[in-house]
Amino acid sequence: GTSGQLVVAVDGPSGSGKSTISRRVAQAVDARYLDTGAMYRAVTWAVLRDNVDLTDAEKIHAVAANVTLTIGTDPAEPHISVDGVGVDREIRGAEVTQAVSAVSAVPGVRALLVALQRELIAEAPRIVVEGRDIGTVVAPDADLKVYLTASADERARRRSTENAANQAATAADLARRDRLDSTRAADPLRQADDAVVLDTTTLGIDEVVERLQRMLDKVTA
Ligand code: DC
Repeated sequence: GTSGQLVVAVDGPSGSGKSTISRRVAQAVDARYLDTGAMYRAVTWAVLRDNVDLTDAEKIHAVAANVTLTIGTDPAEPHISVDGVGVDREIRGAEVTQAVSAVSAVPGVRALLVALQRELIAEAPRIVVEGRDIGTVVAPDADLKVYLTASADERARRRSTENAANQAATAADLARRDRLDSTRAADPLRQADDAVVLDTTTLGIDEVVERLQRMLDKVTA
């Protein structure tokens, strides 16, 4: 990219392997790592903390405007806190996961977080950014855009191993979130026209990481 900066955008649905792969690639190329989903989850945690009605977009936006998010971008140990409280574990819980689609559908929330994401990206000489709208909205000039997919069954299997939860319930919840994330009016999940699409259904993590490293070698050559 311009000024020698390297920005890698990784988008895709839940369970596509985005987080694991983005962190591994960031570590491999000595880059920072930004998990934008964690930012939407952290705002959701604050919305639940404040007992805000999930159908009240104005109040949700006010919460987002008033919280202080602190985000660590070390791929070995990503960290996020809200108003000084570490919420790394809390944002992965069922309550936040259930509510995050409603919060991330509020356009004002997205505007605030996209601005913050762009600041964090601008500060880093090299960074891997994962989310739903990175290649399309947050960093349309990224040096490499990757869109990871996997079959619905495989994504549910991966998620239920992670959560030790019931696979049918996980599959239903994934389908619900996919639908909400892809059909919302504001910045829905979608492939950038210039993204490299990689289906990870039958690929191991190492294989995907290696392929992305090879693509990066070409970009930086
Ligand atoms: O990647 P994740 O499951 O942690 O993301 C949590 C939610 O946040 C997901 O349901 C969609 C939303 N999200 C978003 O709208 N835009 C992003 N860039 C990242 C996540």
